[in-house]
Amino acid sequence: MKRSASLFQVLLVFITMVEIQWSTVSSIYCKDMPPNVYRPHSVTITEFGAIGDGVTLNTKAFQNAIFYLNSFADKGGAQLFVPAGRWLTGSFNLISHLTLSLDKDAVIIGSPDSSHWPVIDPLPSYGRGRELPGKRHQSLIFGLNLTDVIITGANGSIDGQGAIWWGWFRNHTLNYTRPHLVELMYSTNVVISNLTFKNSPFWNIHPVYCSQVLVQHVTILAPLNSPNTDGVSPDSSTNVCINHCYVRNGDDVIVIKSGWDEYGISFAQPSSNISISDITGETRGGAGIAFGSEMSGGISEVRAVGLRIVNSLHGIRIKTAPGRGGYVKNVYIADVSMDNVSMAIRITGNYGEHPDDKYDRTALPVISNITIKDVVGVNIGVAGILEGIQGDNFSNICLSNVSLSVQSAHPWNCSLIEGYSNSVIPESCEQLKSNCRQTPICYDGSGSSAMHVQQPRHTSSTSRLLNPLLELASF
Ligand SMILES: *[C@@H]1O[C@H](CO)[C@@H](O)[C@H](O)[C@H]1NC(C)=O
Ligand SMILES: *[C@@H]1O[C@H](CO)[C@@H](O)[C@H](O)[C@H]1NC(C)=O
Ligand SMILES: *[C@@H]1O[C@H](CO)[C@@H](O)[C@H](O)[C@H]1NC(C)=O
Ligand SMILES: *[C@@H]1O[C@H](CO)[C@@H](O)[C@H](O)[C@H]1NC(C)=O
Ligand SMILES: *[C@@H]1O[C@H](CO)[C@@H](O)[C@H](O)[C@H]1NC(C)=O
Ligand SMILES: *[C@@H]1O[C@H](CO)[C@@H](O)[C@H](O)[C@H]1NC(C)=O
Ligand SMILES: *[C@@H]1O[C@H](CO)[C@@H](O)[C@H](O)[C@H]1NC(C)=O
Ligand SMILES: *[C@@H]1O[C@H](CO)[C@@H](O)[C@H](O)[C@H]1NC(C)=O
Ligand SMILES: *[C@@H]1O[C@H](CO)[C@@H](O)[C@H](O)[C@H]1NC(C)=O
Ligand SMILES: *[C@@H]1O[C@H](CO)[C@@H](O)[C@H](O)[C@H]1NC(C)=O
Ligand SMILES: *[C@@H]1O[C@H](CO)[C@@H](O)[C@H](O)[C@H]1NC(C)=O
Repeated sequence: MKRSASLFQVLLVFITMVEIQWSTVSSIYCKDMPPNVYRPHSVTITEFGAIGDGVTLNTKAFQNAIFYLNSFADKGGAQLFVPAGRWLTGSFNLISHLTLSLDKDAVIIGSPDSSHWPVIDPLPSYGRGRELPGKRHQSLIFGLNLTDVIITGANGSIDGQGAIWWGWFRNHTLNYTRPHLVELMYSTNVVISNLTFKNSPFWNIHPVYCSQVLVQHVTILAPLNSPNTDGVSPDSSTNVCINHCYVRNGDDVIVIKSGWDEYGISFAQPSSNISISDITGETRGGAGIAFGSEMSGGISEVRAVGLRIVNSLHGIRIKTAPGRGGYVKNVYIADVSMDNVSMAIRITGNYGEHPDDKYDRTALPVISNITIKDVVGVNIGVAGILEGIQGDNFSNICLSNVSLSVQSAHPWNCSLIEGYSNSVIPESCEQLKSNCRQTPICYDGSGSSAMHVQQPRHTSSTSRLLNPLLELASF
């Protein structure tokens, strides 16, 4: 009696320590990131001749205002204020030390004329271009090599008027890859907050080769049947925090990427240190949270907690294939609720979709240390299809405290994966029922460097403690 009581106390202390580490880690990624800064200078877009009638094209006004504000970059930066109105514009570029601030009833509207969206080179980590070979249209709001940029407002909107682009996509009359709504490239200290993004032609918010990015309190809306309207897509970016968002769209709600096949492998710019919390999503064609399919530069240290996924195709998804190379590892997903989701968890090892025929068929991705816990789902079609790659088992896939009301008589279908499961309803597949004598170590979201490099002794006591805990819990 006494012995088990003290063991229990030790376990409690351990669990408390882990909890503390988890909360510390999620804040580390976006520390030094003030959601707002005071700008000593401010101008209103109307001072540059803009007319908010929804008809007049205001691209020149945005460009001139931002050109003027550039002279304040070394004087604490400046704000460009967009008052209530409907401000039609083509694509424009941001500068460093700028706040773009929209009033409550301000709507920035993307021009339906594709010539107002200049064409630029494809991303180096995607090679030939994402959708079509060659150049791509620049996003409506674009930033290159910037620092200290804030895009915010009192829930004003940025509307890409994507319908015309979805039409061109569907009838194959596009000449270049479709534009995003907002893209920041090679930038640091970026905040995107308190806005509504609507009808993006392609992905909505795309930070690529960025670090220190905070996306919060945003609403993203696109028709449920719109093609490729991903919500927030951190790509080859580090220290990214996404929280308190509502997304209802046609493709992935939140998706983490890092380049495509041989181009992503040689560009070698991973996405890491990504913290996601308090997300509500509804997607007809995608997942609540997804990884890939472009993951060739590697994805690691991702922590997502507090996801609510409704009326969606997939809940949690990893997409990869031979030829992708790279890795998806050290992913911790917890506190997820799902309602009316066709497939709760899906890991796909044969996603396909290659940029060209030059990809290396022997470049196999490493998928490992994926923990999914504390999941409750109702009205679920299938619990999970988890499939690895022949000769490239996906490892350390851990499911814990997952409870799903599933319609299918075959709730799980697993192949070429290894891992562990504990308290999973309906009972998980054979491949995740590891031998109790082996010590399962499930990635716990605390970051491998912190736990395993700096404190190697702590790690071994961790696994000794975890084993009896998990054994106890499984009876
Ligand atoms: C932007 O930064 C990248 C990477 O540092 C660099 O290669 C590129 O030349 C820069 N582009 C411009 C226009 O400054
Ligand atoms: C922001 O506006 C969208 C519609 O554009 C609305 O659905 C959402 O509730 C609003 N958010 C806040 C915080 O007011
Ligand atoms: C293709 O779609 C665009 C946008 O919806 C439309 O304007 C155009 O007429 C269509 N072209 C053809 C050939 O169907
Ligand atoms: C593609 O190019 C053709 C020929 O220049 C042009 O007529 C057409 O409008 C372009 N399509 C789009 C979607 O811009
Ligand atoms: C952004 O929205 C959040 C939640 O609605 C609110 O608490 C916060 O004050 C807003 N920030 C700004 C700068 O409006
Ligand atoms: C990731 O976060 C850790 C702190 O948890 C930090 O030490 C590390 O430098 C970060 N990695 C990158 C690539 O910024
Ligand atoms: C469930 O989700 C599907 C889309 O995945 C939707 O068509 C259907 O209306 C939803 N059912 C309910 C009861 O909301
Ligand atoms: C998985 O995590 C363990 C520690 O839990 C670490 O030793 C191992 O290197 C990780 N695997 C990969 C592929 O990074
Ligand atoms: C299991 O997950 C549910 C949903 O997140 C949570 O409410 C519950 O506390 C978890 N149970 C345990 C034993 O952690
Ligand atoms: C499981 O998936 C494989 C393909 O990955 C398929 O051939 C098989 O029929 C599925 N089994 C069940 C019971 O659905
Ligand atoms: C791959 O995983 C399966 C279970 O999914 C297992 O039977 C097989 O032995 C593993 N292969 C290797 C090479 O470890």
